[in-house]
Amino acid sequence: MEPYRIKVVEPIPFTTRQQREEALRRVNYNLFDLRAEEVTIDLLTDSGTGALSAAQQAAGMAGDESYSGSRSFYRFHEVVTELTGYRHILPAHQGRAAERVLFSTLLEPGKLALSNTHFDTTRANVELAGAEARDLPCPEAKDIDSPSPFKGNIDIDELRRILTGPEGHRVAMVVTTITNNGGGGQPVSMENIKQTSALCRAHGVPFFLDAARFAENAWLVTRNEWGYQDRTPRQVAEEAFRLADGCVMSAKKDGIVHIGGFIGLNDGELAQRCELLLIATEGFATYGGLAGRDLDMMAQGLTEVTEPSYLAERAEIASYLAHRVHAAGVDILEPPGMHALYLNAGRLLPHIPPHNYPGHALAVQLYLVGGIRSAELGSLYLGEEDEAGNPTKSAPYELVRLALPRRVYTRSHYDHVGETLAVIAKHAGSVQGFRITEQSPILRHFRATLEPVPLGY
Ligand code: F0G
Repeated sequence: MEPYRIKVVEPIPFTTRQQREEALRRVNYNLFDLRAEEVTIDLLTDSGTGALSAAQQAAGMAGDESYSGSRSFYRFHEVVTELTGYRHILPAHQGRAAERVLFSTLLEPGKLALSNTHFDTTRANVELAGAEARDLPCPEAKDIDSPSPFKGNIDIDELRRILTGPEGHRVAMVVTTITNNGGGGQPVSMENIKQTSALCRAHGVPFFLDAARFAENAWLVTRNEWGYQDRTPRQVAEEAFRLADGCVMSAKKDGIVHIGGFIGLNDGELAQRCELLLIATEGFATYGGLAGRDLDMMAQGLTEVTEPSYLAERAEIASYLAHRVHAAGVDILEPPGMHALYLNAGRLLPHIPPHNYPGHALAVQLYLVGGIRSAELGSLYLGEEDEAGNPTKSAPYELVRLALPRRVYTRSHYDHVGETLAVIAKHAGSVQGFRITEQSPILRHFRATLEPVPLGY
C-alpha cells in the first residue's frame, strides 16, 4: 500500500467525449497543445509532476531567500554532498540547464560523447556544443520483449572498442543515464557502472551520471543484481555516484520537486569554469536559478526518495498497471520499469504503417476514450520524410509512454487507464492513422499539426 496518506487534494477535470473530440480538432491532434484542464489523467511526464510531502512544504516555508550564501543553499549542499560525495555542487534550475553548463564547458567541435542512451535534451546540448552524441545501448536492449533485468546497460565491448580505437582521442566524456529513459526506462547494473568507470579511468575520459532517476535505478539493483540484495537503495545510490567523476541531475524526477537540478563534479578546475558560466546564465552559484525554498524542498525530496517503503510501492504500482495493460491485451516494452510503461502501439495497430504514426493514433485514442494524456515515442518523434513527404526513416518501435507522476495517482486512476486500453484494444482494427499537415524543422513532435487518415488509404 502507499506509505502515506493524502492531506491536500486537487480536483481532476472530467470531460465528455464530445468535448474531447472538439478539443482534439482545435489543437490539430497535437496533445501538447491541449489545456491541462482538458485532461483527466495526465501521464505525459513524471517530470516536475510529483506531489510534495508535508516535510517538503514545511522545508519550503523555512526557505531563505538571500541572494547569496542562503541557509537553504547550505542545507541543499550538505544533503547533495553526503549523497553523491562530489567535491563541487552547483545548483541549476533543471536538468537541461545543468547539461548546457557542463557540456558547453567540456565539449567542442570534433569531440565525441558516448552514452547508454542520451536523453533528447542531453543529445541536443551535446550537439549545441558542436560535439557528436553517440548511443551505445547493450544488445539486450534491442529485443523489446526480453525480460532481461538490466536492458539500460551501455554496451561495454563497444565502449572499449571506441576508446581503444582510432576515434579514442575524440571521446570527451561518457554519460550513463540511470535509469535509461530514452531506452524504455530500463535500469543499469552496478557491474555495468563499475566497468564503465574502470574503462573511463584507464583512458583518462571523464565519466558522468545523468542521475535523474538514480533512486529508482538503485531500487531495481537491490531487487535484481546479485550481491546487492542486502543493500539499501541509499547505499547503492551512494556507491553509483562515487564510481563516476560527476553528474548532471534533473531533480524534477527523483528529487520530487516541481523545479530544480544540479551539477556535481570532482574536478575543481572544471567546476570553476562551470561556475562562471552558471553565474552568467543561470544565477549566482548559491542559487543557480532557483528560489531558496526550491533548494530546501529539493534537499528534503532527495532524502525521502530513497526510502525503501516509498520505492517498493512505486515499483508495485508500475507492475500493477503493467498487469492491467497486459490483461487489456496490449503489449509493453518489457520488463516494466518504474517511471513509465511503454505501450507497443505498432503491435496493437499493425494496419497503420509507421508513416501514419500508430503511436500517435493510440495516444489520440487514449485521450478520446479515457481523457488520458500520454507521449508518442515512435515515428512521429524519430521518423523522417524527404521533401516530397515520402518516409525515409521510421522509429525502431512504435511506442507510447505512460509516465507515472510520483505520489499523485492511485490504483483506481490506473484502473481507469487499464479499462480505457481494453476498450481501445477491442476495436483496434478501426483506429485511424494520421498524416502531418505542418511541422517544424527540429523537435517536430512538440509543434506538428496532424489530421486523421481515413481507414483503407
Ligand atoms: N535527463 C533525463 C534522463 C531526463 O529524462 C530528462 C527529462 C532530462 C535529463 C532533462 O531534465 O526536464 O529537468 O530539463 N525528462 C522529462 C521526461 C522531460 O518527460 O522524460 P529537465
